[in-house]
Amino acid sequence: MGKFGGASVILALVYIISSVTFIVGLKMLSHPAKARNGNLIAAAGMTLAIIGTIFLYKDENGNALHNYGWIFSGIMIGAIIGTLAAKKVQMTAMPEMVSMFNGMGGACAALISIVEFNHFTEVFTKSGWSEVPWQLTVNMTGHLLTMYAGALIGGVSFAGSMIAWGKLNGKIKDYSFKGQHILNLAMFVLALVLIIYLLFQLDPANYRLFYLIPVLSLAYGVLFVLPIGGADMPVVISLLNSFTGVAAACGGFLYNNKVMLTGGILVGAAGTLLTILMCKAMNRSLKNVLIGNFGGNHITASQNKTGGNYKEISVSDAAVAMAYARKVMIVPGYGLAVAQAQHACHELEKLLEEKSVEVKYAIHPVAGRMPGHMNVLLAEADVNYENLLEMDQANDEFKTTDVVLILGANDVVNPAAKTDPSSPIYGMPVLEVEESKMVIVNKRSMKPGYAGIENELFFHPKTSMLFGDAKTVLQQLIAEVKML
Ligand code: TAP
Repeated sequence: MGKFGGASVILALVYIISSVTFIVGLKMLSHPAKARNGNLIAAAGMTLAIIGTIFLYKDENGNALHNYGWIFSGIMIGAIIGTLAAKKVQMTAMPEMVSMFNGMGGACAALISIVEFNHFTEVFTKSGWSEVPWQLTVNMTGHLLTMYAGALIGGVSFAGSMIAWGKLNGKIKDYSFKGQHILNLAMFVLALVLIIYLLFQLDPANYRLFYLIPVLSLAYGVLFVLPIGGADMPVVISLLNSFTGVAAACGGFLYNNKVMLTGGILVGAAGTLLTILMCKAMNRSLKNVLIGNFGGNHITASQNKTGGNYKEISVSDAAVAMAYARKVMIVPGYGLAVAQAQHACHELEKLLEEKSVEVKYAIHPVAGRMPGHMNVLLAEADVNYENLLEMDQANDEFKTTDVVLILGANDVVNPAAKTDPSSPIYGMPVLEVEESKMVIVNKRSMKPGYAGIENELFFHPKTSMLFGDAKTVLQQLIAEVKML
């Protein structure tokens, strides 16, 4: 039994149960049908961990928490703001909200480090640095390193996520200047040098240098996300997500709190895996992401090329082409989410299947505005998960597809990614829809997508444009197909 009897044993059990719920919840998130329950299970585990910590925690002297007024006021304010924000948010604004919440996690982790550093220096200034026993000095190195890392990573995550939030809702534009990535690299190296110096040379005379770490990390976070544009934001968003996890894990180390550690490591590991997958999907290197060396600053001549003539198709002709096809592939994109047309899309799919047309969905990993956006959107409309093809599978099947129906997608089907080295999306694997027999593109105008560049697919001989809001057009298509 622990030093403080039953309470600490129960708390250890609570932490084990909570950690298990995080792992089970995370596993369930990988399948759209189970994702909602997975989220609920992990949230229940988190609630249990918070309640357990508040009422069962004892410090090394056996003291329980006491400032309940502050704790519950903070929880209440956070819970009210979080609930209202989540209830009010439009589905299309979800990625920004996730970015904002991620930034708040980073800020918390950085603040924990700052508060703990202040506490630590206060204690050691009082008791005298030279009197610290040898073993404690060894532990302190680890303790200090964790504080510095939490302040650095949490600060980058907070500042970067705020810029990502502004970029996703269009309030902040891509910005870069000559030599920016060198400045980014220099700030990063300076922060590391400072950490090493303060790790081995910390004394009351240089305590204040610590505060340069969060300042540098905030500046780095802003400058590393600002220039990233084009279609490269997904990589940054998942990277910032993993940073928040690692920063939270630092907090877990500092407080010797196992559940905080487990939660932080799970988020950090999941975010890192997602970053690697996103880098692969975008064909980008992680090194370039870290020094903010790609994206918007490469937007060049390719964005203003004139593509020539495009042809339009009527709703009834599009309906006939699909109803008499053998195989139709639907490519969903951000516009489908904007139009909230997922239910209409599923209805069209069912109607076509009744007419013995094989219907599948081609899902690009960065379609929409957040990882898995299209999967979540289509799952909401009960689209069968088996009908969703990943990019590589879909690219294999386009050759045998009669009609591709593109619904509010643009960058993810832009052939410039394969053919135009001056394009900001050059090198990113895309859906090769032009391999099919016919391509119908639904969008409202000839305006570009997120990367801000023209799409030559719209001028391709196999392509026909079907202009209009995705939901309205789908409803018209449904009515036409029903009449055939
Ligand atoms: P986009 O390239 O952004 O294109 C979406 C298209 O939808 C626009 O061209 C728009 O054209 C059309 N649209 C908008 N509202 C519509 C409506 N109501 N009905 C019909 N069409 C509508 O989308 P995408 O192909 O899905 O590519 C995603 C882009 O976002 C990529 O560049 C990606 O890198 C970036 N991004 C992704 C993420 C993640 S993690 N997925 C995060 C950040 C950024 P009109 O205005 O002419 O209608």
